[in-house]
Amino acid sequence: MPKVFVTYKIPEVGLKLLCERYEVEVNLEDRFLSSEEITRRANDADALVTLLADKIDRHVIETLQRVKIIANYAVGFDNIDIEAAKEKGIVVTNTPGVLTDATADLAIALLLAVTRRIVEADEFVREGKFTSWKPELFLGPSLQGKQLGIVGLGRIGTAVAIRAKAFGMRVVYYKKRRLSEEEENRLGVSYMDLDELLSSSDFISLHVPFTSETHHLIDEKRINMMKPTAVLINTARGAVVDEKALIEALIDRRIWGAGLDVYEFEPRVPEKLKALDNVVLLPHIGSATVETREKMAIMVAENVIAVLEGKEPPNRVV
Ligand code: DGY
Repeated sequence: MPKVFVTYKIPEVGLKLLCERYEVEVNLEDRFLSSEEITRRANDADALVTLLADKIDRHVIETLQRVKIIANYAVGFDNIDIEAAKEKGIVVTNTPGVLTDATADLAIALLLAVTRRIVEADEFVREGKFTSWKPELFLGPSLQGKQLGIVGLGRIGTAVAIRAKAFGMRVVYYKKRRLSEEEENRLGVSYMDLDELLSSSDFISLHVPFTSETHHLIDEKRINMMKPTAVLINTARGAVVDEKALIEALIDRRIWGAGLDVYEFEPRVPEKLKALDNVVLLPHIGSATVETREKMAIMVAENVIAVLEGKEPPNRVV
């Protein structure tokens, strides 16, 4: 019977589909495995289910003996050396589509949390400081009529654009390949080159995948282009932003604030960032709705089943 090794427990619905067909070994410890542990425990496995915290580099891939598919429990797959997998003929799959709405919701939630100072205000109430309604208590910028710059207008960026329109925002976007005029009109968005978008937007939300091209796409020079009232939201990948430069800009109040769900050296969050009151910090929960995480688990299982049955998986990356 084929064997599937799962590096960390995923929702039961997905595991059940796998357990009905295969021998399944799941790491049930609440910790991520080292590369050595993954290669050892997946040594006799035909399929490997990974999380984005698992670094599946060339060395791991070359060491895998029988694995035919690496099914990543995420839409992003920057944790896997795709070239190495391709060379070894191992299929890699991801979970696109099902987390679009959840992640877009979270980007908007972060934007509201930063602009309306929700975390600070909550602490204020808990600390017993709420003594009376005051005209200038916890003021922040409104969203209505402001310009939202979306960097990367794929599935999630588009879903953010749709939400932003409902809040009365003007939406501009930057994307490597510009949309057709018809698509732009349909979504009600306008194209800008990246630097123009950064310097003219009130709020900026990042939705590009992490690649060598997008590493530090938002570097010190580009952060300095932003308005002093700008708010930066990142629900994509931490290293798209030069985190050190962002922290300096937030400390110097060169931008108004930031909402971050992801970090450059995740899960490490710099102490300097935690000390700031103009940033809202989340633990990479963009896709964390019950429904989404269950759908992701089902997709992972479907991808594994397809490959182990000799069929084309629904979500092949390579
Ligand atoms: C992904 O899927 O890439 C997200 O970052 C986690 O759901």
